[in-house]
Amino acid sequence: MKKLLVTGGAGFIGSNFVHYVLENTDLHVTVLDKLTYAGNKASLDGVPGKRLRFVQGDIVNAAAVEDLVQETDAIVHYAAESHNDNSLQDPRPFLETNIIGTYTLLEAARRHNKRFHHISTDEVYGDLELDDPERFNDLTPYNPSSPYSATKASSDLLVRAWVRSFGLQATISNCSNNYGPYQHVEKFIPRQITNVIDGIRPKLYGSGENVRDWIHANDHSSAVLTILEQGRIGETYLIGADGEKNNKDVVELILTAMGESAESYDHVVDRPGHDLRYAIDSTKLRTELGWTPKFPDFESGLASTVEWYRNNEAWWRPQKAVTEAKYAAQGQ
Ligand code: NAD
Ligand code: DAU
Repeated sequence: MKKLLVTGGAGFIGSNFVHYVLENTDLHVTVLDKLTYAGNKASLDGVPGKRLRFVQGDIVNAAAVEDLVQETDAIVHYAAESHNDNSLQDPRPFLETNIIGTYTLLEAARRHNKRFHHISTDEVYGDLELDDPERFNDLTPYNPSSPYSATKASSDLLVRAWVRSFGLQATISNCSNNYGPYQHVEKFIPRQITNVIDGIRPKLYGSGENVRDWIHANDHSSAVLTILEQGRIGETYLIGADGEKNNKDVVELILTAMGESAESYDHVVDRPGHDLRYAIDSTKLRTELGWTPKFPDFESGLASTVEWYRNNEAWWRPQKAVTEAKYAAQGQ
């Protein structure tokens, strides 16, 4: 394998993966990205440029995808509409990109017999009670709650069908909540960090008891590369780093790390249908493929993420006011 096509490589996790691959392998990478509001070419600044090609294009467009798929050895498919709150306001782009876009790529991969790795989310499994001793694994039944997670579940099922019906050489990974550099300010952690920088109090949905299972984006990248290189075709691997924390604790950690009082945040209107808890059992990935996370310490990862947003205001500033205006209109 010499060449990768990375869809959504100008987004948060895709760009972290491109940095990781170009810094840790000799692979050549082509990024295919539509540059929606969530994509930013500047997220790819600083990578070894000779092994990176950037193509602006839409994965829904079969003609745009065809040659790029033909030329590559493997496709790593990150491109998606990714934000739950947006999917509650306007689900249509989620159906188009996440379902039709994935279908378009699968058909091209089938025509050209290419290795395909599909990036998905733990949200396809629905949510857990706070005291449930079980965590999600690859046999957990699908039970998505939001329009976003329903479209990701749909795309996973399409990949499984293409493996079974057409023999596509595909794997799937379902990862928990990522944090780290290059994450859009609409998302929980960057929103609160940039609020504190701007002197705005962090905003916690509802009671703040909801639990997310945090993993550093760098660990997600190393896991995806491991699955791409060693994963068994047709298998699903769950990626997680045992990082469960409730939202209230995360906000308090951010405030403390930024030198503010831990209580200086506001409770705002809750998200409709808000999933209570996600938790990943990544035993299969660890025992079968020998993967382990390198950044399991959330507090130090959070401190370096705070530093990144302090040092990279030019990257996030253009999105901040428009994002906050959208939230304000929703009472959030
Ligand atoms: P993001 O919103 O930051 O980035 C998405 C990228 O896809 C953007 O660069 C955007 O321009 C591009 N894109 C959107 N529609 C496109 C289209 N039609 N054609 C081509 N490019 C298009 O998202 P993210 O948080 O980096 O998530 C990336 C992937 O990882 C998604 O598939 C998401 O479901 C999955 N995932 C995310 C998380 C998380 O915590 N953020 C966790 C698990 C899985
Ligand atoms: O679990 C993986 C998923 O994680 C990915 O599939 C999604 O693409 C990604 O966006 C993320 O989904 P969440 O909905 O969990 O992430 P978000 O950052 O939107 O919210 C995290 C938690 O914080 C959630 O419980 C809602 C809450 N929240 C969010 C915002 C933006 C707040 O309390 N306040 C906020 O301002």
